[in-house]
Amino acid sequence: MKNDYAVIQKALHWLMAGIIMLDLFVAQKFGDTMEIADRLESRVDHSTMGLLVLSLFIVRLALRFIYGVPKEDSALTVWQVWLAKFAHGLLYVLMGLLVTSGLLTAMSATSPIEILDIFDITFGRVNDVIFDFVRQFHAFFTEVMIGLIVIHVIAALYHQFIRRDNLLLKMLKFRRS
Ligand code: HEM
Ligand code: HEM
Repeated sequence: MKNDYAVIQKALHWLMAGIIMLDLFVAQKFGDTMEIADRLESRVDHSTMGLLVLSLFIVRLALRFIYGVPKEDSALTVWQVWLAKFAHGLLYVLMGLLVTSGLLTAMSATSPIEILDIFDITFGRVNDVIFDFVRQFHAFFTEVMIGLIVIHVIAALYHQFIRRDNLLLKMLKFRRS
């Protein structure tokens, strides 16, 4: 078993973290009242970014399958190892739920969502009741994701500054020493 993530896995981790957090931040306005034209335009931008996350997510899953994960730090207790694995697993599940629920929300919208001016992602014949129903799940998964990201960041800072095992620096290191 190897000691570190592959460079491509680290690059994808930070790229996806950036896009997901940006998408989360930008999409907060959907919960408020918006001008309809602004809402429809923002939906296109948000869905385009979301589809990018979906594509990167598939690549990331494949890379995890190919490269695996580094072996655990032997200084960690059994429950700490278990907790880290569980938390990472949950992050993957939530990424999957976010993109699939987002996709289903977009597909149920009654107004067109043209991706890159090439194709309309909506089925075009669904009603607003279904859209609102599916959107509730998407909104719920975003809340869970925010909670998980906060815990994940606290854990990373705990490792870096309290345990001082350089886990965060290792994740930020892209060159072999
Ligand atoms: C990176 C993953 C994603 C995040 C963090 C995210 C986040 C959000 C948030 C916070 C909302 C507002 C929910 C509310 O308060 O009602 C939202 C709405 C929405 N999302 Fe996503 N989303 C993601 C992926 C996607 C994807 C992949 C699509 C479609 C391909 C999508 C399409 C939509 C649509 C259509 C809405 C409803 C917009 C409206 O209310 O007018 N999302 N998303
Ligand atoms: C949307 C935001 C984020 C998501 C979804 C996410 C997800 C993940 C996942 C699934 C892993 C396991 C490795 C893998 O398979 O890629 C991981 C590892 C890691 N993440 Fe994040 N991450 C996010 C943001 C952050 C941020 C902001 C930080 C730093 C403050 C961070 C620090 C780390 C560190 C240090 C590791 C290595 C942990 C280990 O090997 O035990 N992540 N992240």
